[in-house]
Amino acid sequence: MPRKVNYGPDYDDNYDEYDYGYEVDENETPPQKETIKHSVWRCSICTYDNDETMSSCDICGVLHGPLLNNSIYDKKRTANIFDLKSSRVSSTVVGRDEAVKVSSMRSDSSNQSTEKGKHNRLDEINILKNIEVGPPAGSRTSDNCSASVQEGWLGHVDESSVAVNLRSRGKSSLSLMPKERNVMVDDSSSSRNGGEANSLTSNLENISFAAKSRHSNDAKPGRAISRAQYKPEKWMLPEKAEHSLTQLNLAIVGHVDSGKSTLSGRLLHLLGRISQKEMHKYEKEAKLQGKGSFAYAWALDESAEERERGITMTVAVAYFDSKRYHVVVLDSPGHKDFVPNMITGATQADASILVIDASIGSFEAGMDGTKGQTREHAQLIRSFGIDQLIVAVNKMDAVDYSKERFDLIISQLGAFLRSCGFKDSSVSWIPLSAVENQNLVSAPSDFRLSWYLGPNLLDAIDSFQPPTREFSKPLIMPICDVIKSPSQGQVSACGKLEAGAVRSGSKVLVMPSATIATVRSLERDSQACPIGRAGDNIAVSLNGIDGNHVMAGGVLCHPDFPIAFAKHLELKVLVLDGATPILIGSQLEFHIHHAKEAARVARISFLLDSKTGKVVKKAPRCILAKQSAVVEVILQEAVCVEEFSKCKVLGRVFLRTLGRTVAVGIVTRIVEEQQ
Ligand code: GTP
Ligand code: MG
Repeated sequence: MPRKVNYGPDYDDNYDEYDYGYEVDENETPPQKETIKHSVWRCSICTYDNDETMSSCDICGVLHGPLLNNSIYDKKRTANIFDLKSSRVSSTVVGRDEAVKVSSMRSDSSNQSTEKGKHNRLDEINILKNIEVGPPAGSRTSDNCSASVQEGWLGHVDESSVAVNLRSRGKSSLSLMPKERNVMVDDSSSSRNGGEANSLTSNLENISFAAKSRHSNDAKPGRAISRAQYKPEKWMLPEKAEHSLTQLNLAIVGHVDSGKSTLSGRLLHLLGRISQKEMHKYEKEAKLQGKGSFAYAWALDESAEERERGITMTVAVAYFDSKRYHVVVLDSPGHKDFVPNMITGATQADASILVIDASIGSFEAGMDGTKGQTREHAQLIRSFGIDQLIVAVNKMDAVDYSKERFDLIISQLGAFLRSCGFKDSSVSWIPLSAVENQNLVSAPSDFRLSWYLGPNLLDAIDSFQPPTREFSKPLIMPICDVIKSPSQGQVSACGKLEAGAVRSGSKVLVMPSATIATVRSLERDSQACPIGRAGDNIAVSLNGIDGNHVMAGGVLCHPDFPIAFAKHLELKVLVLDGATPILIGSQLEFHIHHAKEAARVARISFLLDSKTGKVVKKAPRCILAKQSAVVEVILQEAVCVEEFSKCKVLGRVFLRTLGRTVAVGIVTRIVEEQQ
């Protein structure tokens, strides 16, 4: 059953409240292009032309590119690993000791998001319907949605998984993403080692250049064919009996230390995925390190650093079967420094469990507007299109399984979730204790929880509506990880198949290198599999391609239906509540599927009315928190992208700065495509 369309910002607040009266003549023609003199930069506030050596405006003091500090960025980059823990997925593609997991060293500043943006999907759609912006001549038109931007959004209303997706992965401010992902990093030579960052960077730049030079040489993609004309072959469509259990990708998110990994580990143990022997081993090792309470979490937190620090840093992938689903658990980090990693896992999710620490003070800390991750995670997952949520109110043992505490959490968090666009009917609230094994896979045995008569966690998971899959569309698989086996000369692209299907022998177009490769073999859940279909998380081993041309942030697609590669995009964005205003000239981190790129806001075309979606102001100078606008961004390097109306997963974006998500949005137009 399709997910219900219920996305969008909550524009309940009167728009005028946020119109701070920046004087812009309504009749004024929007600036076509910034005309900035060479060696000067124009202040986006007072328009004074500053010498390029000035880091802030000489007149009004506004920082030049205040939102991106390369040096800081790069420094942090070396300290922060961003790799989807796909070891269970990938380790049998090649031997673990041989398989080189290409870890993307993430840069993400430690500041956390404080956005409290309200979302109401219907209002958002109304706004979108009313955006009267047609693609200008020369811009890439959608295949089946070329009529107008708003038509795409409307069409999408009828589907179910609309929403603005936020995704992160990849490059630093110096466009490092594809390059760094392409470098083979030996497991033992830690990519966290800051000392290696510089040489790595230069290597990556070369590799990227090489990759780009192949773009448009190796393949001559047939742009003319419409996706609507695509006819899937019979093998691409699942037969009914083929999979008895539907795969459900389940993101476990929530504030740091709320118990996500412990809960995941406990579930896996209860469901027989972790043996008693393994559990004893974790318990013993954890105790030895003085971290006895983390024994279950150790099943997911595998690295020495994660275990030592007692926090999850990368997304761990694990599997279990419920009555209805083959569940892929994506255990996310809760720490603010690793929000981008959380995003990578959560963008692959069909549904989510938001874990809350019920202990006194901890729930409140998670809800804190400036330091807590509960709000940010909830906003982000909703923005990814996830509309089915279980709120696991964990650590109920710490509050004596108090019904009052549970009710208080429901009332406070419930109001916030509603403002994010979650329907009450799509949110289940489950009081539980991971440590004391209460209410996970069976009814609670502790009498203090006897007041609770609802389903246990596993039953609640089974109550999720099955996700819709785009089996009949041309192949699209955003690449989130690349595994290389130097000795065997093999390269595998890992990710979730968002549309279409592949099997061994299939030809795939690898973007952005625009190189055609042949699928050698596939692996799903650590097992070789003959066919991968939409919804599957797979590792695709490729033949006939130089490993350097396969990169995280890239996309595998159907050779006849190449996706676009562009750096100049028009977006419709919503600035989140509490976020820094976006100005013309703002430097931001642009995130799209698994790619990240430095971006400059080149133009703010329109400010939109929250209720009607009509253009209320042309060419405003800035977009304040909770305002919605049409903007043009120019990325430092091109990314694989599609208009949202054509392909949701490649058209959802979010903008971050200084470790905070400041806006979510969608790609409404590809202004200029890279050739
Ligand atoms: P990050 O991934 O770093 O965000 O943390 P997490 O949410 O995965 O938390 P984790 O599972 O690592 O647990 C953090 C601490 O909470 C550990 O000491 C756990 O033992 C404790 N904890 C987890 N669940 C419960 C619970 O049900 N009750 C109590 N009292 N403590 C719990
Ligand atoms: Mg954890």
